Amino acid sequence: MPTDNEIRKALERVIDPELRRSIVELGMVRAIDISDGGAVHVTVSLTTAGCPIRNHFTEAVAREAGSVPGVTAVDVAFDVLSDAEKASLQKTLGRGTLPAGALAQVSNVLCIGSGKGGVGKSTVTANLAAALAATGRRVGVLDADVWGYSIPRMLGVHGRPRVSADRKILPLDAVGDVKAISIEHFLEGRDQAITWRGPMLHKAIRQFLEDVEWGQLDYLLIDLPPGTGDVTMTLAQLLPHSKFVIVTTPQDAAQKVARRAAETAMRYDIELLGVIENMYGDIFGEGGGQHLADELDIPLLGKIPLTEALRRASDAGRPIVIDDPDAPASQAFFHASRGIIAATPQDIRVLAEPVGAGISGTPLPMAP
Ligand SMILES: Nc1ncnc2c1ncn2[C@@H]1O[C@H](COP(=O)(O)OP(=O)(O)OP(=O)(O)O)[C@@H](O)[C@H]1O
Ligand SMILES: [Mg+2]
Repeated sequence: MPTDNEIRKALERVIDPELRRSIVELGMVRAIDISDGGAVHVTVSLTTAGCPIRNHFTEAVAREAGSVPGVTAVDVAFDVLSDAEKASLQKTLGRGTLPAGALAQVSNVLCIGSGKGGVGKSTVTANLAAALAATGRRVGVLDADVWGYSIPRMLGVHGRPRVSADRKILPLDAVGDVKAISIEHFLEGRDQAITWRGPMLHKAIRQFLEDVEWGQLDYLLIDLPPGTGDVTMTLAQLLPHSKFVIVTTPQDAAQKVARRAAETAMRYDIELLGVIENMYGDIFGEGGGQHLADELDIPLLGKIPLTEALRRASDAGRPIVIDDPDAPASQAFFHASRGIIAATPQDIRVLAEPVGAGISGTPLPMAP
């Protein structure tokens, strides 16, 4: 007869693909029951009920437990970690939450991600930030792409940040009244290569959230690196109330990766705000964004055309929405920014003004 211990030992080989540790170490093996005939029943606890990698666990647990001599059958069931268990999981990962008060004056955090590289996440982040700022919102941009940072180039913001009296890092002022911070601002040379891995990466991003004096912001936009893994998880843990905007190109392959990024977001309980289709036009066609939005049941926030003017503006460090607000691409960004404003909580102070006092002008024609 196989023993509980043997099964547990075998399950150490089942690795959570995103947390990159064994489910035993992560405390995700809730129960192991072994019946007389050698049938094994394993209960695995997931971080969220709708976890898209259930199948991975089903197969891996069946395979590893099934490899123990004497096991005749393996049956896998799932439940969900309690909040206390999730907190302890975070501790295991050495990833606590942000200290109370960090980002207290930031109303909305939006992560701009895609899964795939080169679809225009950074371009979209820079232009959405400038569009939101142009409509009077206070906006900051955090460049979370520590390997392939491009926000300094796109927002034309270089140099070293200053430090405030209480030792906080002050974000730099980019064009269009946008505040920005990027790893580039801390490097000796602009093209210095970064080879940080998981824990260092986590630390850098944590510091951008914790030690940077963002002040009062309506929106903090986070430009994610390509891929889903580490950074999304870090942000989800540090900023559980952040929302995700998915950028995709019109093609099918890009949508598939974007869907995976969306699934990762959902796995960590990050709300999906909407989809932005980028680079539609003659070459790539169009429609992928709408497809993905329909599939995920979230709004299509905008469709940005593929234009030479947009590419040139980004390269020159001047978001097109600032230099040519009437360009088709700019109009598309303004449209998307209005969708974002509509979908996120706004400061409603203005409603607290005494009602009626300031109303003037022509009386509306009312029905008698
Ligand atoms: N709608 C567009 N029209 C023309 N060029 C575009 C458009 N969107 C992005 N580009 C160009 O495509 C290139 C890649 O864009 P960008 O760097 O924003 O992508 P990314 O998804 O952030 O890439 P990475 O995954 O490397 O971070 C840039 O040169 C950018 O100027
Ligand atoms: Mg980028």
